[in-house]
Amino acid sequence: MSNNTLKEEILKLKEELDVTIVAHFYQKDEVFNIADFTGDSLELAKFAASDSKPNLIFCGVGFMGQSVKILDPNKKVLMPRIACCAMAKMIDEDYYNQNVENLEKSGIKKEDIMPVTYINSSAEVKAAVGKMGGYVCTSSNAKLIITKALKSGKKILFVPDRCLGQNIAIDMGLKSCVVGDGSDPKDADIICYNGFCSVHQLFEVEDIEFYKEKYPDILVVTHPECKPEVCEKSDFVGSTSQIIKYIKELSIEQKVVVGTEYNMVNRLREKNTYVLSSTKPECPTMNETRLEDVRDTLLSIKDGSYINEITISEDTRKYAFEALNRMFEL
Ligand code: 13P
Ligand code: SF4
Repeated sequence: MSNNTLKEEILKLKEELDVTIVAHFYQKDEVFNIADFTGDSLELAKFAASDSKPNLIFCGVGFMGQSVKILDPNKKVLMPRIACCAMAKMIDEDYYNQNVENLEKSGIKKEDIMPVTYINSSAEVKAAVGKMGGYVCTSSNAKLIITKALKSGKKILFVPDRCLGQNIAIDMGLKSCVVGDGSDPKDADIICYNGFCSVHQLFEVEDIEFYKEKYPDILVVTHPECKPEVCEKSDFVGSTSQIIKYIKELSIEQKVVVGTEYNMVNRLREKNTYVLSSTKPECPTMNETRLEDVRDTLLSIKDGSYINEITISEDTRKYAFEALNRMFEL
């Protein structure tokens, strides 16, 4: 079936079934283009949780659909693919608890730890953080949340993305360490778990040097999941939405090279845009979702089988909500 026929079928089913479809910027174009709303992680969570329709199809990765379910347990949240963010999979509740125990062994009391989890984490990790009075943050508000968390006078345990934690520490003039790097966590303000995004690890300082040599006036724009040395050499670092806004405001002649996922950068081609890598930086799990999957999800709403519906136990949801809500309160 052609994409156009599928698209027509999807739009018809969407109207008939009273469903909202949202998509992250990293989704394939054909999926991105049928969404009612697109945004970065924070915008998607906010929009989807306040949307009045009872059914939501989330084209993104697992933690994104879970965030909506945590915020609005009465909504049916379905994902065309249960695609898991590889970084979010790097930590589970047991690993999280082990890390807290290890910090205790190294002389930092549990009550002196303030955990902050990047939204790219499972509901269980968010709940463990919520139980300790901690926060969720996204790439667009990490600095604000860490500033607030530090007011507790405690050390920050930042999970799972070491790069985002390190980048915020550099930006705020704070000391950071990465679990297992051999340094004493007692010396750090922000203790980062050793997780990372394999897509954003692709971007190197050499790539920046290559483009700067070729086009001396080019601007370098990166996502804070990139390595600290890459972000330090960037002209702008921001969430996916912040990057889009920054680039849209540039003059058409201004060359810009971008270090984030390929589908999103490719959509910015009407500007003088380059990809900061010689390989195609695609997020494999974001790319799993196809129009066929969206159609099948709609059909499952119609026949009541509700494929790939997100479910979270109430005990987990309640604590994960606390951590997410502390972010929204700010
Ligand atoms: P944003 O919140 O900036 O959209 O980032 C989500 C993400 O997974 C980036 O890799
Ligand atoms: Fe996760 Fe990286 Fe994909 Fe973002 S780009 S969803 S952090 S694996």
